[in-house]
Amino acid sequence: MSIEFCKKIDLPKIHDPRGNLTFIEGCNHIPFNIQRVYYLYDVPGGAERGGHAHKELHQLIIAMSGSFDVILDDGRAKKRIQLNRSYNGLYVCPMMWRELDNFSSGAVCMVLASNCYDESDYYRDYNQFIQAVDSSKL
Ligand code: TYD
Repeated sequence: MSIEFCKKIDLPKIHDPRGNLTFIEGCNHIPFNIQRVYYLYDVPGGAERGGHAHKELHQLIIAMSGSFDVILDDGRAKKRIQLNRSYNGLYVCPMMWRELDNFSSGAVCMVLASNCYDESDYYRDYNQFIQAVDSSKL
């Protein structure tokens, strides 16, 4: 899996003087079906989240409010992406180390995921992640 697969996706936006509306349909606007939604909020200043990779999980990360940065690392290249719009999502493919930092005050990070929570799907150790990436190249 390459970092090039991870892209910002423009989500549909219905403009309305009463307030805008965005919607997401699994397998239509994003390349997976949605099995789980979770969100990070009340993030204290200077905190970092993430710090892991997933073996199989696909995710879409959205700044529902405020802003934060996502740092992606596929074991070869790294990229820092700022999210600050509720109508943009960052698609993160499997086997991608991710860290989230630089949270603004009041930021809310919503994540759509392709599967239910499964601890065995995580790499939480960066060296183990790199070993897995290297062995997949053999
Ligand atoms: P984790 O994925 O490590 O969060 P982050 O990457 O944002 O730092 O999850 C933190 C804790 O929450 C961990 O104990 C697992 C638990 N958790 C669930 O029980 N269900 C979930 O869907 C998620 C995402 C986490």
